[in-house]
Amino acid sequence: MKEHKRYMVTSALPYANGPVHIGHLAGVYVPADIYVRYLRLRGREVVFVGGSDEHGVPITIKARNEGVSPKEIVDHYHSLIKESFERFGISFDIYSRTTSAIHHRTASEFFRTLYDKGCFVEKESDQYYDEEARQFLADRYIRGTCPHCGNEQAYGDQCEQCGTSLNATDLINPRSVLSDSVPVMRTTKHWYLPLENYESFLKKWILDDHREWKTNVYGQCKSWLDLGLQSRAVTRDLDWGIPVPVEGAKGKVLYVWFDAPIGYISNTRELLPDTWQDYWKSDDSCLVHFIGKDNIVFHCIIFPAMLKAEGSYILPHNVPANEFLNLENDKISTSNNWAVWLHEYLDDFPGHEDTLRYVLTANAPETKDNNFTWKDFQDRNNNELVAIYGNFVNRAMILTHKYFGGTVPEGGEPTDLDRSTLSEIGAIRKKVENAIENYRFREALKEAMSLARLGNKYLADAEPWKIIETDRDRVCTVLNTALQLAANMSLLFEPFLPFSSATLKNMLRLPAIAWERIGSGDLLPAGHQLDKATLLFEKVDDNAIEKQLQRLAAAKSAKAAQKRQTYQAAPAKDEVSFDAFSAMDIRACTILEAEKVPKTDKLMKLLVDTGIDKRTVVSGIAQHFTPEELLGKQVSVLVNLAPRPMKGIVSQGMLLLAEDADGKLVFVVPEHTVTNGATIK
Ligand code: MF3
Ligand code: ZN
Repeated sequence: MKEHKRYMVTSALPYANGPVHIGHLAGVYVPADIYVRYLRLRGREVVFVGGSDEHGVPITIKARNEGVSPKEIVDHYHSLIKESFERFGISFDIYSRTTSAIHHRTASEFFRTLYDKGCFVEKESDQYYDEEARQFLADRYIRGTCPHCGNEQAYGDQCEQCGTSLNATDLINPRSVLSDSVPVMRTTKHWYLPLENYESFLKKWILDDHREWKTNVYGQCKSWLDLGLQSRAVTRDLDWGIPVPVEGAKGKVLYVWFDAPIGYISNTRELLPDTWQDYWKSDDSCLVHFIGKDNIVFHCIIFPAMLKAEGSYILPHNVPANEFLNLENDKISTSNNWAVWLHEYLDDFPGHEDTLRYVLTANAPETKDNNFTWKDFQDRNNNELVAIYGNFVNRAMILTHKYFGGTVPEGGEPTDLDRSTLSEIGAIRKKVENAIENYRFREALKEAMSLARLGNKYLADAEPWKIIETDRDRVCTVLNTALQLAANMSLLFEPFLPFSSATLKNMLRLPAIAWERIGSGDLLPAGHQLDKATLLFEKVDDNAIEKQLQRLAAAKSAKAAQKRQTYQAAPAKDEVSFDAFSAMDIRACTILEAEKVPKTDKLMKLLVDTGIDKRTVVSGIAQHFTPEELLGKQVSVLVNLAPRPMKGIVSQGMLLLAEDADGKLVFVVPEHTVTNGATIK
């Protein structure tokens, strides 16, 4: 890696309208923290900036719904988030907020510079306006009937019932959320950043000069750039945010995505009032943004265009964005309470900070979406951290206390086993370095873990407990070697698992040692007195896991109940004749075989006994049922539906199912099992 003089590392500023969950941690904060801890251990100059993103429409809506001011909302969540990051060991040099005075000033000045340079285009457009509340309405402030599904509660940007994204003007019977009045169209003026002017610069800078970016990031940039960029409004009609610092802009604020990334700069400025420019404006600084995939366009296209327009800033060196983490195979969702919240985790699992850091790194969604399950969490804790790393350290410590009163014994002539074991350390260190520097944190952790495995194997091979009576000298060498391994682990694991590394260093009474000494000979001198042995990791028992699963189940049923309450039956279909109905041949059938159609998510291929024949039916139920659940089940099938090819398989019929309010599919079946082929009419 080209060495830079200093590193400016940012992590996406979370919106201060909810707590942080494991998806945020796995995608952004844990990898960023590993990276900066590593850089610091390597003696690099680094500033790690975080902070809360406190503007934007969703915050004002939440405040309204709760009958409090936006300020109260962001104050509450800012403290909660800041505190939980601290407890979790995310080692920000500063965690500030976008409502700070210094940020308002920095963002205003930034806008003003671009304005004065003529970088913006001023445009008028028609937008919904609430005459009673006397304000323009953000899309989320308008509700009406969805033109696609008839949901009367669709928002101006999206219908939550059918998932279609909308424009406010698409809604039938639009109403203002503020006053319930009918909004009118009014002309309003905004400032736009003409991104099309930066297209060729961005194309060269990303597509030619940054081919080394992660493929998920590069690919997303390429598709944006291939589609062609358009100008984007950087101001909004809203009373929460940073006032637009030009004349004639009363009631307008900077768009949240304009001000938020400038927050990285403001927060650096707050931390280093005199030297912040070294980090942001000097070519020997390396700027790296840690973000989730939904933020790619803002960090790779819009913010760089802003920085370029301003002219005095450096551009990001890399943007190692991650994909998403799912929870128990479902999308994490704040509104569905389908999440593991960091502050709750910290309360429920005190002393297990490193377990979560470990699991989220081992399962990091680096190249594709990934899944967190509580079972996997427990397994990785008990079978990896406890059984491998913890067990090794514990054995080395206990045996040293037992045989040598806790003093590091003097090693004798090393055997091949000792030599080859110790020589691995340096090689592993190199692999860890290389992986971290290329933002492959899963791989880096796996390499570090291979050192713990090696230690475990070493003790298992050397079996000091078997020879203590017969060959005490050999035991000295073995335990000396084991303790050197443990000392190396305390350094090597530090970027990933800082809490247990600190515990281990204390146990070993290890002084501060440079990273570069990993794998470079003895770290602990003979005769060195160790502290008493404590456990590095505790087991996670079944009860703790059960409790978490129950909480998730409760969230799921609460959501389902809520959906049933607000359920709107689909609008009635056109009338059909009796003949048209009786033309349908519906039969009771039994499923004989079931298998998922390869390379599809939804399709299941079934063989059914219709009483008339045995035939293939393809049905879109694979996400709802497993093949095992389906075998032998009696179902209702429309058997005279014209055969249809689906993914190359001809489906000869259709299964009847009801879709519940929460999207769950339920079979329509005879009340008791009947003979296959029985007619349903
Ligand atoms: N608040 C945004 C989100 O959670 C991230 C903002 S990152 C910054 O998606 F660049 F704007 F700071
Ligand atoms: Zn809809």
